[in-house]
Amino acid sequence: MRRRPDLGGLEAVLLDMDGTLVDSDASVERAWSTWAGEYGVPVDTVLAVAHGSPAGRTVAHLLPRLGPEEVAIAARRQLALQYDDLSDVAAAPGAHELLATLDRCGLPWAVVTSADGRLAKARLAAAGIDPPLLLTIDDVRHGKPDPEGYLRAAGLLRADPAACLVVEDSEPGLAAGTAAGMPTAALRGLDGDLRLFDLGHLAHLLRRARTSPWWRDAVGYQVYLPSFGDSTGDGWGDLAGAGEHLDHLARLGVDVVWLTPFFRSPMRDHGYDIADHRVVDPSFGGDAALDELLARAHRRGMRVIGDLVVNHTSDAHPWFTAASSSRADPYRDYYIWRDPAPDGGPPNNWLSHFGGPAWTFSEATGQYYLHLFSPEQPDLNWRNPALAAQVDKVIEHWLARGLDGFRIDTAAYLVKDADLRDNPLLPADLLVPVGGVTMEWRRQDHRHDIHQPDVHAVHERWRRVADRHDAFLVGEVYELDPGTLARFVDGERLHSSFWFGLVESGWDPERIDTMLAAAAAASPRLSWVQGNHDRPRAATRYGGGQVGRRRSLALHVLMASLPGTMWIYQGEELGLGDGHVPRGHGADPLATAEPGQSRDAARTPMPWRPGPGLGFTTGRPWLPEGGRTDADTVAAQEADPASHLTTLRRLLTTRRRLAGPAAATDEIARADLGAGVTAYRRGGLWAVANLRDATSAEVELPAPAVFDSDDPAVTPERPRTGRVRLAPQQALLLAGPWPAS
Ligand code: NOJ
Repeated sequence: MRRRPDLGGLEAVLLDMDGTLVDSDASVERAWSTWAGEYGVPVDTVLAVAHGSPAGRTVAHLLPRLGPEEVAIAARRQLALQYDDLSDVAAAPGAHELLATLDRCGLPWAVVTSADGRLAKARLAAAGIDPPLLLTIDDVRHGKPDPEGYLRAAGLLRADPAACLVVEDSEPGLAAGTAAGMPTAALRGLDGDLRLFDLGHLAHLLRRARTSPWWRDAVGYQVYLPSFGDSTGDGWGDLAGAGEHLDHLARLGVDVVWLTPFFRSPMRDHGYDIADHRVVDPSFGGDAALDELLARAHRRGMRVIGDLVVNHTSDAHPWFTAASSSRADPYRDYYIWRDPAPDGGPPNNWLSHFGGPAWTFSEATGQYYLHLFSPEQPDLNWRNPALAAQVDKVIEHWLARGLDGFRIDTAAYLVKDADLRDNPLLPADLLVPVGGVTMEWRRQDHRHDIHQPDVHAVHERWRRVADRHDAFLVGEVYELDPGTLARFVDGERLHSSFWFGLVESGWDPERIDTMLAAAAAASPRLSWVQGNHDRPRAATRYGGGQVGRRRSLALHVLMASLPGTMWIYQGEELGLGDGHVPRGHGADPLATAEPGQSRDAARTPMPWRPGPGLGFTTGRPWLPEGGRTDADTVAAQEADPASHLTTLRRLLTTRRRLAGPAAATDEIARADLGAGVTAYRRGGLWAVANLRDATSAEVELPAPAVFDSDDPAVTPERPRTGRVRLAPQQALLLAGPWPAS
């Protein structure tokens, strides 16, 4: 398996020229085409072998009967055709951003090219690039794939070859880098230790690698595995299917992917009922598929976190089978058992999220066991140190295997009241303000079954394991009060925790404004989310249709300015609303007790392209397709410069360029720009959004706008300044003095 290049430990970056740093494709092709005509070689044959090799080597390969002198003449002719043809030579996409990043990071760099000195200098000048060190074919005996050029560059820069990153867009160039013992980054879909879609991508990866810790200000993406990509045609998503879509995520600007549970499971709660925490379920492709996915994600510079579900297991877990066999079984105390109440009923009044009491009677041993979710999900006993030790080993196992951390399922539920006291009822006019549970559950004050203070000690314990692996732990904590939530990420507790204020919310701009400000002020370590697989989709909750989508995007712009990690639930990048699931076609266990709370609508398949199966599956999907239109699909939105996908991508690209210099602080403040707009300032970065449904009054922009949700022409290079009126849901990012690039 390929190593993950240590971008943080690099000593130099060595870049090829043609096709990598400089876009000269047209000029190269024209020259070879003319040459091919003159020498009577088919053009296609020439173009198939020419790229990345010195001209002399290509000529010798194509015309094996020529002697060395004739080869030299033919190669010179080919070069002569190129010298004066600089009309459309330009810097490759992201080249200037990358070079500015290298300078800012103090990383030495060089250009190592198969062109000769005259041509290289002319092309680099035409592209506006002035390398501190340039090695051409004139400086070496053999050209690529010989490693000589790269090794000489490393020597001249006094860099350890193993710490030099070679950036290439051709096979001979990559072979030269590998032969020099250097990690490689490949463009044009080629296979290197890293796969880049352009040089801006590398700039981003380098900035992130030098940001400590790596998850600070990262962009996360939730993959709901059963519905993301199906590689087998059985209608059920799997790891290989997810792997096929990693380029979509890399292009979007995702730094870390959260995969919902992939462990062995009877799938009564679609993976949140685990029967073996150390084995990948065959329906997701087994262990090998996970290894492959991790390698592919890491090659794109993305991290992957799993889903740690240890509030409960499946009732098919061997621990539970053993525990329920006898009161004397050594695993008995891994779960929570109690005698019946005097009337024979459950031991207390706690309720299952999925309906009915949280207790089920086990005939075999004459006691009840606790389950805060379905009876097939018995709760573990976190007051038992033996269980805690086992879970440490599970975490250790996966982190050693290559996972980069975990989202912690029901992170605040683990420890229960030691005396299992009854929950009081809430006053008749009050309800717990969360969805995804039954109405009956919302009527209790859950002061004893969940959110016990002892749970922090469990998180602190996991944190010690995670930190040994530089891994990230983000909690699912349904604590809407930001101050209380902040305690979960204090000190050495979880690295981050989702704040669900925007997930539990419909569209109420005033309230959202106040809540978001409180959350932003509470901690710089929160994870910002609008949706997940447990709640209606954001665009639907925010009003549906185009307005719902625009509202969601405006919130994404505000989120982009906040310290912490920012998350996208699959499909949110397309502005998807809830999928339509006809009655009788759902699969959610919660819907049995409370049809109105069904989570199926947020879980319908990801629409990749128009047509049957939506590019998600070639078979029949496990949940209905949801009534998606062609315009909902990734394929359609990719092609539309004003689509939700393209706009969000633009937002994230701009954000990542701002992340270093503009937002080097965690201090976030609400800014009063008047005119009823919402604005935040973080260092030199500002986010401004009109959350209202009417056009705002004129706002004097305190810094140049570098992103405008409604205008793709606004970029860091072409900022907008002065006074503006913001249309309903229009949102901007502003940046203080823009660093020269
Ligand atoms: C939270 C998960 O997100 C949800 O899907 C699941 O049903 C419960 N935890 C139980 O694990």
